Amino acid sequence: MNILILGSGGREHSLAWAVRQNPKCDRLIVAPGNAGIAAVARCAALDILDPVAVVEFCAAEAVDFVIIGPEAPLAAGVADALAAAGILHFGPSAAAARLEASKAFTKEICDACGAPTAAWARFATAEAARDYVRTRGAPIVVKADGLAAGKGVVVAMTESEALAAIDDMFGGAFGTAGAEVVIEEFMQGEEASFFVLCDGQDVLPIGTAQDHKRVGEGDTGPNTGGMGAYSPAPVLTADLATQALNRIVRPTVAEMARRGTPYRGVLYAGLMIHQGQARLVEYNVRFGDPECQVLMMRLGAQALDLMLACAEGRLAGMQVNWADDHALTVVMAARGYPGAVTRGSEIRGLDTLPEDSFRMVFHAGTARQDGRIVASGGRVLNVTARGATLAEARDRAYAMVDAIDWPEGFCRRDIGWRAL
Ligand code: AMP
Ligand code: GLY
Repeated sequence: MNILILGSGGREHSLAWAVRQNPKCDRLIVAPGNAGIAAVARCAALDILDPVAVVEFCAAEAVDFVIIGPEAPLAAGVADALAAAGILHFGPSAAAARLEASKAFTKEICDACGAPTAAWARFATAEAARDYVRTRGAPIVVKADGLAAGKGVVVAMTESEALAAIDDMFGGAFGTAGAEVVIEEFMQGEEASFFVLCDGQDVLPIGTAQDHKRVGEGDTGPNTGGMGAYSPAPVLTADLATQALNRIVRPTVAEMARRGTPYRGVLYAGLMIHQGQARLVEYNVRFGDPECQVLMMRLGAQALDLMLACAEGRLAGMQVNWADDHALTVVMAARGYPGAVTRGSEIRGLDTLPEDSFRMVFHAGTARQDGRIVASGGRVLNVTARGATLAEARDRAYAMVDAIDWPEGFCRRDIGWRAL
């Protein structure tokens, strides 16, 4: 079959890498892709936020199956347009994608289905939000309701930080995403990510992961999109995963179906684990980036069969063939990230690295210029490895990091420390 993947990051490179290995895949196109993806697929220019353009592209290229990587095309209704055109696709409708696109919506769903999460309230004016913070005190969490590229959350340790965040958000720092603000109880504990495929009715867990959100070693410094990840997450024990499935994920999926907006795609539940209990922090309606890279490293070619079963409503008969292994990915970012970065610096040494089912360098932000690979974003490479133990996976990944010659880049040296 001919397959189209939408997106251009390390997540989409790992999806393309896994899909390519499956004999069901004939032609593989990634739009817009990047320099690393070009080694496993054809990259095509396409406005992936334009549902009509995506449908026309599929017709012109005889695409049989579309995998939608990022949240923005989902929120823009690309899955709806593909559904209307009768094109098989992986990714939820815009109505179901509200589980990521609106934090207040997710909280309402949790309340409606009894899923444990932080106590919350929503506000349309700064004044009411300020009053609430003064009554509740700190620590407290202030969130822009809408999509803010992962930047719309302030975990405020003091009341004045929370009040400043409220002023920022209502002052337009996040555009329309901050027109409404959700304020939440601060939850203590350890975070883990749980990935579950849903076909509208049935659910199938496909792995757990933990990422490192802070830019600096020891989890210090500003928040980022993620500086590294590993799978499985030891904190999410089998018992806790079952608990999260039964108390959080299944009730959510049932509530979405009851409302006539069934959830189809991967549901990424961000969980807070404390004293043997899992509570929901947030949902994402896509694979995490870089969590996807470690999941794909472990799942390999079967990832395509699982996504197809999900899209075709056949999850009830599916199972994951688990290997007893571990994967870890180290993000190499351009100096300055998560602030402003300089683009265009050359990355050398990539062609000397072994790439096989144990080691892969997924490209997150690269371009090819006169035959050279250059950095074209903040997060640039995801150096990923698999091993029998997490320590083995880590050693393999850092051995590759050390062979990459890129003075303008940096990475954290302590990915996986919590679990090691
Ligand atoms: P989100 O974008 O909702 O995932 O929030 C980003 C990060 O903020 C999460 O990964 C948590 O580390 C933190 N966070 C969000 N909500 C809470 C909460 N209620 N209590 C504690 N930390 C939170
Ligand atoms: N790594 C976090 C995310 O993809 O949202």
